Parts: sequence; structure tokens; C-alpha cells
Amino acid sequence: MRISVIGCGYVGLVTGGCLAEVGHEVVCTDNDPGRMAMLEGGRVPIYEPHLDAVLAAARRAGRLTFTRHAGEAVRAGDAIFICVGTPPRQTGEADLSAIDNVARLIATEARSPKLVIEKSTVPAQTGLQLKRALAVYSRKNGLAFRVASNPEFLREGTAVEDFLHPDRIVVGVEEQSSEEQCREIYRPILEGLFHCPVHTPACPPTPTPPMLVTTIASSELIKHASNSFLALKISYANVLADLCERLGANVEEVTRAMGLDPRIGPQFLRAGLGFGGFCLPKDIQAFIWLAESVGVDFGLLKETERVNRQRIELLLEKVRRALWVVKDKQVGVLGLAFKPNTDDVRFAPAIEVINRLVAEGAQVRACDPEAMEKAGALLPPIAYHRDPYEVAKNADALLITTEWEEFRRLDWERIRDLMARPLLLDARNLLDPAQMKALGFEYHSFGRPGC
Ligand code: UDX
Repeated sequence: MRISVIGCGYVGLVTGGCLAEVGHEVVCTDNDPGRMAMLEGGRVPIYEPHLDAVLAAARRAGRLTFTRHAGEAVRAGDAIFICVGTPPRQTGEADLSAIDNVARLIATEARSPKLVIEKSTVPAQTGLQLKRALAVYSRKNGLAFRVASNPEFLREGTAVEDFLHPDRIVVGVEEQSSEEQCREIYRPILEGLFHCPVHTPACPPTPTPPMLVTTIASSELIKHASNSFLALKISYANVLADLCERLGANVEEVTRAMGLDPRIGPQFLRAGLGFGGFCLPKDIQAFIWLAESVGVDFGLLKETERVNRQRIELLLEKVRRALWVVKDKQVGVLGLAFKPNTDDVRFAPAIEVINRLVAEGAQVRACDPEAMEKAGALLPPIAYHRDPYEVAKNADALLITTEWEEFRRLDWERIRDLMARPLLLDARNLLDPAQMKALGFEYHSFGRPGC
């Protein structure tokens, strides 16, 4: 099928690349000229495992093109995926102006009817508004557009794998024809009929993902409800960690046992510095705002957010307790990205931690395998080193703020010898406390004995 993708951010690039990979003809566009110049030149503006290979292969096969001519992109597809950003306003409400602009673009540039699919995370009712906007803006050309909602559940760092091996595909539609068109788009993925760029020589056996067909409003809610529930699980584990610290229990033992109950499940119970990134914090805010706007008090989620914000404060308290005076101390920070395997630093807890340490007068130097460039644009001037050992040299304290596997595998004996004082604050519970203490570190983490 011929598919257009509007918006070449994270979701747009993964959607466009993977749909081309499985055999569709895809045209992508974005209104950021810098981003388009990079993509037209074959460069990928984000770090995401496998994405560069997927995009390159699809372009070589002639199934993926990038164009700055938005009208051309709109006309190219029978189905159009809207993948533009919906950033939060000050109030937490999602800013939908980009969606409105795209509706105007599609309505005025299309020459034939299209299925318009919202893939950006949007509040409930957006599909309805989108349909109205398309009708208003196209009243002169008389074209009829159908609207569908198809939320994306991919995680940064494993986005290509998540897209090609989803747990479920959700489509919210109003007409049978839209359901059929969505089924056709996802047929190669539903039937496993593609060459997987992630797994060689063959994908591990996984159950066929169900395609759930719902109303548009339900589909829109599913995305918010899923992300908010994940956030709630993390905050729950974090409060448990605080309790474990007070009672001398081990949060990892507690959450491991909890997770073995299939009604609870083991994932998203990792305690530490809390959740960041562009999805969970923004989606939870938008969900709270949406609930309030229709008279429902989602206090549960407000508390989830409060607990998450408090993680930073709790880490800083541990730093202050250990260092006594923070001003003029050399503090090394390992990890800037909001999680490993991405260069994304949006709403990354590490960024806030560094801002606060700098404000308290610490001399901060940091290291991240992928995110230093993006962090540099957000942070006050600090020192950056590619080499984690340089960050440790003469440091009074070392903080682990992102759980990159590279950090786990460091030569910790060497780090201990390089530091002015072997003080380690592991805010992601990455390392083994007993091992670190045996090496002679003063070691602190969250919710584990002796923290
Ligand atoms: C999330 C959702 O998982 C995904 O389904 C949705 O499409 C987009 O939002 P992502 O933002 O890539 O994906 O990150 P995710 O893996 O969910 O992690 C979010 C944050 O939670 C990270 O900062 C991570 O470090 C933190 N986290 C995660 C924890 O603190 N503890 C955990 O147990 C799990």
C-alpha cells in the first residue's frame, strides 16, 4: 500500500521505516528543514538501535522517500499517518496545534479521499475533532476523509523490535473499510511475513499479536491508560523502596516476589530515580488534565507524579548526607539519557539532578555513551568526557543516573583508585551492593539494605 507519514520524529521514523521494511511504499515529510536535510542526506537525527539500517535498506529498495514538499507527501499515500508532536502546555494539557495544522494541510493538498490515522499520542476526543477539522478545511474540494486511531506502544531503545513484534495492535475505527485498510497495512506484521532486521538468522517464536478493533475514543484512551499505569507501577515500587530502607528490607527481593504473581507481572517494578522521557511524564500530565476536564479526579495519578518528582530530592538528600558540603565538590555523573540505549534526554532525571548540583555549587562532569551532545544543549556549562574513568578521576562522589550496561561492566577497582573519595551513589540500583562494599566503596542505592 502507498503510505504517507507526516512528522519525522521518533514515532514517525520508526513507523515509516518499519512499514517500508515490511513492503509498503512510504513517503515521509516533516516541517523542520534541518531534520529533512539530514534525512534526505541519509543521516538519522536520533540514536535508536537498528533504525539507521532499516531506513537505509528501505531507501535502497526504493520503498522509502523523504520529501520537504508536504503536499506531495499527502498526495502520495492512500493512508496518512499523523506522527507529529503533541507537547504539554504549562497546564499539562496536550498542545494539539500541530495536529490541527496537519489536518489543514491534508484537507487542502489531497486530491483523493484518504484514511487519516492518528499515531501521535493524543487525548480522547481528538479523533472526533480531527474529523471535524478535515471536513471544515476541505469544504471547497468536497473530499471525504475517514479517521482512525492507531496508538503506538514502542519503547525508545527497542523501538524497531517493538514495532515489528508488537504485543498488540490497536486500531480505533468508525467504518469497516478503515478496519480493512488497517489490517492490510499490518498484515505482514500480523502474519510474520517480513525479513526481520533485528533477529538473525530467525526471530524467536512469539505468539501472533492480536489486532484489537475498538471505537476511536477507546483506542485513544488505551494509550494514555497504558502509559499512566506503567508510571503508577514505577512510583509504587519507588515508595516500596523508601519503606524497605526504613525497615531494613530489600526492594529487589520484594518486587521480584511480587512480579511472579501473573496478576502483577515483573516489569516496571524497578525502583530508583524514577521515570523520565518524552512519553510517561507528558502522558500522565495530559491524562490528569483530561480527567479533570470531564470532572473526574484522577488523584491516583497526581500522587504517581508527586512520588516521581520526589525521587530527585531523595537522591540529592543522599548526596548531601554523604558529602556534608556539596559546594566546590567534584561530582562525576554517569548517565544523561532518560534510560539506556537512547540519546534522548527529554525529561531525563539526570538533567534535573545535574542542574540542582550545579545550583548548589558542585563541580560536575558527566559521561553518557550517546546523549552528551543533546544534554549539552539543555545543561549549564559542565565538563563532558567520553571516558567514564576521566569522570571518576579525583571525584569526591560518583553518581549513576542511567543504567547503561557499559557502566555495569566498568573496572570498578580502577574507578575506586582514581577517585578522591570512593563514594558511589547508584541511583538506578545497577550494581551489587555487597560487591561494591567489598571493593571498599561507600555505596548508596535505593531500597536495599545499608542504603
Ligand atoms: C514508554 C512506554 O513504555 C511505551 O510503551 C510508550 O509507547 C512510550 O512510553 P519509553 O518512554 O521509551 O516508553 O520508556 P520506558 O521503557 O517505558 O521507560 C520510561 C522511564 O521509566 C525511564 O526513565 C525508565 O528508566 C523508567 N523506569 C522503567 C523505571 O524507573 N523503572 C522501571 O521499572 C521501568
